[in-house]
Amino acid sequence: MSNLPNTFRAFVVDKPQGGTFSRGVRDVSARDLPPGEVTVHVTWSGVNFKDGLAAREDGRVARAYPLIPGIDLAGTVVQSDDNEFPIGSAVLAHGYDIGVARHGGFGELARVPSAWAVALPKALSPREAMEIGTAGFTAAMSVAALEERGLRPGDGPVLVTGASGGVGSAAIAILASRGHEVWGATGKTEEHDRLRDLGAAGFLTRDEVTAPGRPLERERWAGAVDTVGAATLPYALRTLRIGAAVASSGNASGAELATTVFPFILRGCALLGMDSANMAIDRRRALWQRLASDLLPRGVADGITEVTLDTLEPALDGIHAGQARGRWLVRVGE
Ligand SMILES: NC(=O)c1ccc[n+]([C@@H]2O[C@H](COP(=O)([O-])OP(=O)(O)OC[C@H]3O[C@@H](n4cnc5c(N)ncnc54)[C@H](OP(=O)(O)O)[C@@H]3O)[C@@H](O)[C@H]2O)c1
Repeated sequence: MSNLPNTFRAFVVDKPQGGTFSRGVRDVSARDLPPGEVTVHVTWSGVNFKDGLAAREDGRVARAYPLIPGIDLAGTVVQSDDNEFPIGSAVLAHGYDIGVARHGGFGELARVPSAWAVALPKALSPREAMEIGTAGFTAAMSVAALEERGLRPGDGPVLVTGASGGVGSAAIAILASRGHEVWGATGKTEEHDRLRDLGAAGFLTRDEVTAPGRPLERERWAGAVDTVGAATLPYALRTLRIGAAVASSGNASGAELATTVFPFILRGCALLGMDSANMAIDRRRALWQRLASDLLPRGVADGITEVTLDTLEPALDGIHAGQARGRWLVRVGE
């Protein structure tokens, strides 16, 4: 055990019963930390689409108030009831209820059950881990799922939608460094140079991947990573090659899905669901080891904008408005 400060700074969203919604930085009592074996001095967190939702009254993501959002965090253990996570060791955590139903990474202190904690891979600093963050983790999970289903470099072009966003940028970087030919669908032509530097071989406009089409179109993609949902996921499905799959992780443009069964029954295609929040901890820890080695999203650090708790709000609004260019990284504590 160690002594914790009585209070710590955090970005808090609140909506008291019958009261008005508020958000901003304030001091929080350490007594208000949730239960758990591992208390972390948070040095870095990231801004994810879900955080943008948690920070809005109409976001429908926060399941408890007051809430410190921040679905991912990294830092140093300052109090521990689990020998696996000794005081002073570097740790990260993300997903499960973190930042949605219990306090998350936008505070100088966080407490998590040890069954949710991941010892930081030796090759990564807390900052590097959050440069990857939930977005990079989800991208790695998507690439691993496509490859486990049989995708190999040389099979043909792989589509990544929402390419300029956190998950999309990381997916481009990982796929390219593994030798795949990657195409990005993006609404931002000004992002082409950055995405080309990450390894994108070509681009589609947002219109091309949202326009209505026939139930099956020309077979084009050997695989796809879709972060956008709505009209874009049906585009990916109807243009997959025989036997190919799309890893679906996001709903950046909407949650509805209108497709036919033809990609499944006439081309044997698959829709692979990606849920990073609830991945079992042993698989999560193993995937982080791979993120530090063969699934490292090389180059994503170049697309990072650093913010602090005091300058976080515009980033939360920006990611919700689809203005992400790479990732916003939150420097939480020193
Ligand atoms: N399943 C999981 O475990 C998991 C984990 C992480 C994230 N996600 C989800 O994956 C999605 C992407 O997350 P992210 O962190 O990469 O978000 P992000 O950084 O905001 O990227 C989303 C990108 O989607 C594109 N987009 C297309 N249509 C859009 C629209 N109508 N509104 C906003 N963006 C639009 C934009 O890229 P272009 O301009 O380049 O098209 C945008 O930058 C989100 O829905 C998020 O909730 C899921």
